[in-house]
Amino acid sequence: LEGEPGEPLSAPLIVVSNRLPFVLKRNANGKLQRSHSAGGLVTALGPVVMDCGGLWIGWPGSHDVRPFDEIPEPDIPNSGLKSQQVKPVLVRQELFDSFYNGCCNGTFWPLFHSMPDRAIFSSETWKAYQEVNEEFALKTIDALRQVRARLLKEYNNPSDDSMPVPVVWIHDYQLMLAAAMIRQVAIEENLACKLGFFLHIPFPSWDIMRLFPWDDQILEGILACDLVGFHIEDYCTNFIECCQRRMGCRVDHANSNIEYDNRTVHVRALPIGIPFNQFQQLAIKAPRVMKDERVVLGVDRLDYTKGLVQRIKAFERLLQCHPEHLGRVVLMQIAVPSRTDVKEYKALKEEIDQLVGRINGRFSTADWSPIRYIYGCISQDKLAAFYRDSAVALVTPLRDGMNLVAKEFVACQINENGVLILSPFAGAGGTMREALLVNPYEIDMVAETIHKALVMDEDERHHRMQLLRKRESSMDVDYWMASFLREMDQVECAITGPPSLIPV
Ligand code: G6P
Repeated sequence: LEGEPGEPLSAPLIVVSNRLPFVLKRNANGKLQRSHSAGGLVTALGPVVMDCGGLWIGWPGSHDVRPFDEIPEPDIPNSGLKSQQVKPVLVRQELFDSFYNGCCNGTFWPLFHSMPDRAIFSSETWKAYQEVNEEFALKTIDALRQVRARLLKEYNNPSDDSMPVPVVWIHDYQLMLAAAMIRQVAIEENLACKLGFFLHIPFPSWDIMRLFPWDDQILEGILACDLVGFHIEDYCTNFIECCQRRMGCRVDHANSNIEYDNRTVHVRALPIGIPFNQFQQLAIKAPRVMKDERVVLGVDRLDYTKGLVQRIKAFERLLQCHPEHLGRVVLMQIAVPSRTDVKEYKALKEEIDQLVGRINGRFSTADWSPIRYIYGCISQDKLAAFYRDSAVALVTPLRDGMNLVAKEFVACQINENGVLILSPFAGAGGTMREALLVNPYEIDMVAETIHKALVMDEDERHHRMQLLRKRESSMDVDYWMASFLREMDQVECAITGPPSLIPV
């Protein structure tokens, strides 16, 4: 990886996430092509990795990619990572399924969302998790060697103090073991680096975490990092308590630091934001797509943590208790298919299909149906128009790390007319105080809150939305990323030693 001549050399960033920032697919001619992903992580981190000559390590989203395949360059030059900045992790499909469907989404997803009854504990899928994490770690070590070789070339003197220390930033529950393996090899090979981890889902309480038979290994894996980030203080507190009780760590509560293995692990609450301006621009440009009706909007991956069943029942209760909304208000629920190979997700889809059918059968007339249910993906433009023109957004997860839909809705509310109803069990519930907060399990209360939102006067709606928009526009995804990297900057590099010329 050669830096452009004259380019300021900031610390190279190596991002490690389960998914690469794009999916690789074969076209009709058998050539691999990138199909782009629109996530906030990609929007924020992509340009930083591009500019610092960093790398991104992840699964390319398909098992049709072989080690000898060339990664295609982005369609438009400089619009994405160069092919040599991408290191795809390729594992056998059977192993990957056991890791992804089995351990990640059959065990950690429900457990970390405090739904242990749904979690399956299996030594077989745990083994797959370990193996796949090792694959990611090996690719990261390769990346570190590559970056190291570039730095040694650019800084003639290997003990030059101004030589930047590469930062490895690992993301999410799929990769909780990788850091321990990376640290071990980095120490053996004197590969100076700082290791960071961000968890995008909740971190559960000690009472839940201890149910996992190999909880110590997970904690050890995360503790191998120098900086560990969570969305909110509650998750930091849970993590710190687990480290104290299970690992016997000493904790400096005043500074939110953990002492482990003669090192300091910095634990920080860094709530993620969204690319606010990007959503706002989409909302400004998007044509109208809805009829003249008042829409209560739900947008979620079809996931049992999102509280879809309770939400739909609450809408039914609204129609029953406030018949003045019959014929006038519609619940538009967009459910994006997700993890369709996992049993729990299949069962949920059937339950929702039946529930929607029953409620529509109960209330529909010749020219109106109460629920418009879309099981599928919709374009970003349409989504922005739905967010902009809906009267109410119902964001009522039973548990959610942050929830970005609440933030996207707010960014698209350019007319400041809509009302956000939010669950306090989403990370977003802690900061988006001007939303109407409601416990999603209290179906009567949710119904009453939807009613309250539908009859709220214009001044109050504007006032609440204005405040929500102000906060989200300043604390956007770039702000989040900069906060993490700033914290990282202050962390001391714990892997040091005489610099050695590593053959690459
Ligand atoms: C959550 C997780 C992400 C994950 C996303 C989509 O937001 O925190 O890590 O990528 O869901 O799920 P999927 O299983 O399709 O990657």
